Amino acid sequence: MKILILGNGGREYSIARAILNEKESHELFFMPGNGATSSLGTNLNIKDYGELAEFAKKSGVELTIVGPEGPLVDGVVDIFKSHGLTIFGPSKEAARLEGSKVYMKNFLAKYNIPTARYIETSSIEDAFRFAEKLSTPIVVKADGLCGGKGVIIAQTHDEAKIAISEMLSGKSFGDAGRKVVVEEFLDGYELSMFAVCDGDDYILLPAAQDHKRLLDNDQGPNTGGMGAYAPTPLVDYELYQKVRERIIRPTLDGMKKEGAPFEGVLFIGIMVVNGEPITLEFNVRFGDPECEILMPLMTSSVSDMFYKAATNRLGEIKVEFSKEFAVGVVMASADYPYKSSTPAEIIVDNVHHEDIEKYTHISYAGVSMIDGKLYADGGRVLVCVGIGSTIKEARDRAYMRCGQVHFAGKKLRTDIAYQAL
Ligand code: AMP
Ligand code: GLY
Repeated sequence: MKILILGNGGREYSIARAILNEKESHELFFMPGNGATSSLGTNLNIKDYGELAEFAKKSGVELTIVGPEGPLVDGVVDIFKSHGLTIFGPSKEAARLEGSKVYMKNFLAKYNIPTARYIETSSIEDAFRFAEKLSTPIVVKADGLCGGKGVIIAQTHDEAKIAISEMLSGKSFGDAGRKVVVEEFLDGYELSMFAVCDGDDYILLPAAQDHKRLLDNDQGPNTGGMGAYAPTPLVDYELYQKVRERIIRPTLDGMKKEGAPFEGVLFIGIMVVNGEPITLEFNVRFGDPECEILMPLMTSSVSDMFYKAATNRLGEIKVEFSKEFAVGVVMASADYPYKSSTPAEIIVDNVHHEDIEKYTHISYAGVSMIDGKLYADGGRVLVCVGIGSTIKEARDRAYMRCGQVHFAGKKLRTDIAYQAL
């Protein structure tokens, strides 16, 4: 099958890698892809979605998979569908579950799906008044997309008021902050769950844990994610059932009632508080680096799952997962997440070791190819993935692989999966 993948991260690289490992042969296109996806297929440079859809039609692309939220929120799925193309991802309307925190919170409230107590408002007085009533810490969120930076956990009431004022005035996030959500802080442990949905049915993938802070022991600034592992032993059958019954099923039914059936990846950010799953947020795409560790755990066809989901036929297939564990460790550039770093050549040692060759691989993200050499040129540069029959084995293997990768300024956490060990 000819498949087009939108995006340029490690997430898209890992989807491509899983597809190329299938029994059937496939031809891949990336828009825009990165310096390493060019070795897996053809990188394109067609920014206009209408033109891209024309290209897909002309080239016989049978399936398009959208990685990041940007194109989804911009309506790429609607445009491709209007050209009669098969594309996996939510419509512009359904993507509002991620594109607007106000929409998401109001949706959760309307359908009685558990979430933190909140107010959504553009009035500074109302926001202040609600914040006053909460005990600290207080969570303040900008309504729109802010590249993962739009959530402030304020330690004092004054800090919360500053965050509210700066958002509502447009100072911190421009128009994305003209409305805010103020909510209670939930104290528990966090999970990432992913449901691949076709509007009616869904496949729930093994639960993962991300590591959002830059430094070991969850210190330092928030990032897009510095590492992940799955499945996590922190979720038992009962918790999966609660997530299915209280969150995913009512979300799919609710979105249908809203006239925006949800097709695509529903990424549920969950806080488990006293054994109960509470919805922190929805994203409408795979997490990164969660995708990099979930793809290698799938033993049935990944492209078929996406194809069936995009054609409302998920009920026809059985998706299977390996019994193993996967751990992914992100290697980031020197100045991540503050600013971009000078491109640095990436050297991967050529040491032969059976464990490393069989049970580890690299998913490339922020890299460019110059004269046949790979350079680190983005914030999160790559993810070293280890597979094992225990989390510890998978983690040790991932770190063995990290030890073989070198570039100036490389940065990584040394405690990925600590909550499970
Ligand atoms: P979000 O972009 O909504 O996922 O928020 C980013 C991060 O902020 C989450 O992954 C949580 O770690 C944290 N967070 C968001 N909302 C809350 C909350 N109500 N209570 C505690 N932590 C939160
Ligand atoms: N790793 C979290 C995210 O992709 O948003």
